[in-house]
Amino acid sequence: MKSAVLEKLLTRLDQIEPGEVQALLSRLVREKGFLQRVFESLQEGLLLVESSGTISFINQAGCRFFGTTAEQAQGAKLATIVRGLDWDHLIGSPRTTVSRDLEVFYPENRYLNFYLSPIAEEDEEDLGHVMLVRDVTSSREETAAEIESEKLSALTLLAAGVAHEIGNPLNSLSLHLQLLERKVRNLSEQDQDSLHEHLQTATNEIERLDTILKQFLQAIRPTAPQRESADLHEILEESLLLLKPDLETRDIQVTLKLTESLPSLSLDRGQIQQALYNLIRNAYQAISPPDGEITIKSRATDYEVALSITDNGTGISPEVMGAVFEPFHTTKASGTGLGLLIVRRILREHGGELEMESEEEIGTTVTLYLPRTDKQVRMLEDQPPIEI
Ligand SMILES: Nc1ncnc2c1ncn2[C@@H]1O[C@H](COP(=O)(O)OP(=O)(O)OP(=O)(O)O)[C@@H](O)[C@H]1O
Ligand SMILES: [Mg+2]
Repeated sequence: MKSAVLEKLLTRLDQIEPGEVQALLSRLVREKGFLQRVFESLQEGLLLVESSGTISFINQAGCRFFGTTAEQAQGAKLATIVRGLDWDHLIGSPRTTVSRDLEVFYPENRYLNFYLSPIAEEDEEDLGHVMLVRDVTSSREETAAEIESEKLSALTLLAAGVAHEIGNPLNSLSLHLQLLERKVRNLSEQDQDSLHEHLQTATNEIERLDTILKQFLQAIRPTAPQRESADLHEILEESLLLLKPDLETRDIQVTLKLTESLPSLSLDRGQIQQALYNLIRNAYQAISPPDGEITIKSRATDYEVALSITDNGTGISPEVMGAVFEPFHTTKASGTGLGLLIVRRILREHGGELEMESEEEIGTTVTLYLPRTDKQVRMLEDQPPIEI
């Protein structure tokens, strides 16, 4: 491509004064340097590809996207640097412009969108192609999140109705069981014993159904967080207190490694307690005694507070990991499969995120990230007053 431009210039050289040639050449060199700096400062990847398919230029962003270096790529065939597409076909026709998505797995898994456009004007000879590459990973993820939330709202509509309808007969069942229990008390002791067992089972099952229903309604009808300034460690202690009987019967050792410089956060205490309760319950449910251990750590950065819960339980297999946030996905006999979904929703509504790491037979770490609210205020206060 470069030679074609120069060739054109050379054919016209005889019409130009020698002094002018010198000036022209140094201007060309200066402009090339300028353009190169512009190309290098782009966040988009930029590649110049000759009509033979050889890369004649690649900027730093391009190198980063494709895990290569300029030395390696310049002079190499595009097909050897970016594999998996029929480049001969794509750059074979000098008149067509192509825009496509491309998934790359090295150096990291990203979705890229590239735009391949011929450099030549209509009647000019083939000068190759320019290729602009953008990282669209985050917008793809946003779209996936939108689809997920759409799926969820369709589910919501249907399920809220059904759940409501189940709630009423459930209440009435529970009432009738209480009446039955009262009547049973008037029977002889022997009859009472056998009937009592059946009654207890039925009451337990109804309670279980009621919990499932409550969890379910919470998952599909989220309420906006009622925030107040709160101490995350205090909420953690409250959640641990609620779970104390379960932790003690399973003989689980809980170790706290909490930061001493925890900023106060703007949180809905009830919701965060519910999230921690669900996560700690998941942790001990994954542990088979003896030697069960749960370690809870917290740390604060300038931007956020992280609280992690590590267990030495069964861990999560890669197949299950892909589905842990799916509604109703559970590996437990009496689980609803809604716990993590609720936790993630609560965190997102607080502007935070949930991260899960797990290794089979070693254990699982779930980390909650909550944004700091004080950071922004301090920055505003630091601003010098505006003089008018
Ligand atoms: N700490 C953990 N260790 C191992 N597996 C886990 C852990 N946390 C979650 N899981 C897996 O993720 C699945 C989904 O968890 P989630 O809390 O959403 O529902 P559940 O615990 O099954 O039901 P529920 O929370 O209603 O009791 C679990 O069934 C389990 O397989
Ligand atoms: Mg759970």
